[in-house]
Amino acid sequence: MDETVLEIKNLSKSFAKNKVLDGISLTVKKGSVLGLMGENGAGKSTMMKCLFGIYSKDEGQISLLSKPVDFRNPKEALEHGVAMVHQELNQCLDRTVTDNLFLGRYPTRFGVVDEARMLKKSLSLFSSLNINVNPKTIMRTMSVSQRQMVEIAKAVSYDAKIIVLDEPTSSLTEREVYKLFTIVKDLRKQGVSFVYISHKMDEIFQICDEVAVLRDGKMILTSPIDDTDMNKLISAMVGRSLDKRYPDVDNTPGEDFLEVRNLTTKFEPVLEDISFTVKKGEIFGLYGLVGAGRSELLESLFGVRTIASGELIVGGRKLRFKNSRDAMDHGFAMVTEERKLNGMFGKDTIQFNITITNLPSYKTGGVLSNRKMWDAAEREAKTMKVKYVSVDELITALSGGNQQKVIIGKWLERQPEVFLMDEPTRGIDVGAKYEIYQLIIRMAKEGKTIIVVSSEMPEILGITNRIAVMSNRRLAGIVDTNDTDQEALLRLSSKYL
Ligand SMILES: Nc1ncnc2c1ncn2[C@@H]1O[C@H](COP(=O)(O)OP(=O)(O)OP(=O)(O)O)[C@@H](O)[C@H]1O
Ligand SMILES: [Mg+2]
Repeated sequence: MDETVLEIKNLSKSFAKNKVLDGISLTVKKGSVLGLMGENGAGKSTMMKCLFGIYSKDEGQISLLSKPVDFRNPKEALEHGVAMVHQELNQCLDRTVTDNLFLGRYPTRFGVVDEARMLKKSLSLFSSLNINVNPKTIMRTMSVSQRQMVEIAKAVSYDAKIIVLDEPTSSLTEREVYKLFTIVKDLRKQGVSFVYISHKMDEIFQICDEVAVLRDGKMILTSPIDDTDMNKLISAMVGRSLDKRYPDVDNTPGEDFLEVRNLTTKFEPVLEDISFTVKKGEIFGLYGLVGAGRSELLESLFGVRTIASGELIVGGRKLRFKNSRDAMDHGFAMVTEERKLNGMFGKDTIQFNITITNLPSYKTGGVLSNRKMWDAAEREAKTMKVKYVSVDELITALSGGNQQKVIIGKWLERQPEVFLMDEPTRGIDVGAKYEIYQLIIRMAKEGKTIIVVSSEMPEILGITNRIAVMSNRRLAGIVDTNDTDQEALLRLSSKYL
């Protein structure tokens, strides 16, 4: 099966003076999965959006099954069998699953929308994909991963010849990833092709037949997956070899600083009787399976989840935060895992997003100084190595991974004493991950207390001093990072299942 489904030739695209894609060529074969890799801002999403009719290309040819195509909008692309699941999901959260599936193509009967038929089609679609979602559910009430599954089902429902998945697993649980891969493999057997964008090496090697690497808008490498390896891919991506995945964790934790005593929360999912103490200058990891209660724990420390009983003692003082503002006023900061909903102002500029949580400190004589805000934004954007043109740009003009860096930068501006980080490197490329690890260690050396949640086992083992493992919303144990391993963490994480 060596038939070519998609051929892209000499594709170029600029935003104003910024040349984002520079003469790129790529072919995708029928019934195959092509992995598309590259650093944050390399141009992966842009390339696929040119294909999908969201952006118009400046130069180049795209052909589908040997016929030249130039879709003017996503609807046209879908009608020709090209589907795309976006990195930042764009769904109508106040509508039902079925509404989202059929948006723009409601089946009608005698001129009215045929609800019964929509429901029936949705049900059979989900059952064919073995996805457990009730079509009548309102999107907002579902987890991000379930919403992602709906989006994938939608792509399938268009009878797509080629499906682009843009970092589809960044919010999926391990079991869901497994399910997604099963779906991908089934469809591949039926001749459907995929472009699979991901920063996760193991996934690329698991699911892809071929791999392509973009760097700074140029195609650096295309290869059958069997003819390459992780090191080759990394050096193609970053332009140099990266001999270490993790920096030396050489901070020295000081005295006890943050103590949680018998914390129990009020509302579902209830955390039960959690106690631990974290030191000043310590990097404290929180590990657990999805649903173990790690994010909920961070939220209750940050004042956004109601505490039923128990105590929080910070620097010897008993505190009980009323809300996140209160927590922030006491030197707490939190990077959330879902930036679009909790952390980011999408309609505003990079500068606004970086300065918004710290406005009082940019005042001169009682008036906000634009100069100071500009400088602050520049400072953090540089520290975080954000790939940007001007801090005046809308944050949505940045690539996904660069948006995440801006969110971290905004919290750094507040110089927090306690930094709560929920999956801080999600969606971030290998090179930038390393920089975030360095930053975490640097903050620890400055005496900050850091609690970091990560689902990636090597990462949590690579950058922490100690690790608390949660299981079924209780604390299963706390281990020294140097004296533990993956097996021990897994064992603890299933302790209360
Ligand atoms: N609408 C836009 N306006 C201006 N610049 C844009 C726009 N969309 C993308 N860019 C720029 O194009 C470049 C490539 O972005 P793109 O989103 O394609 O990167 P990516 O490879 O998908 O990165 P990531 O891994 O972070 O998702 C970035 O420098 C980005 O700032
Ligand atoms: Mg992207």
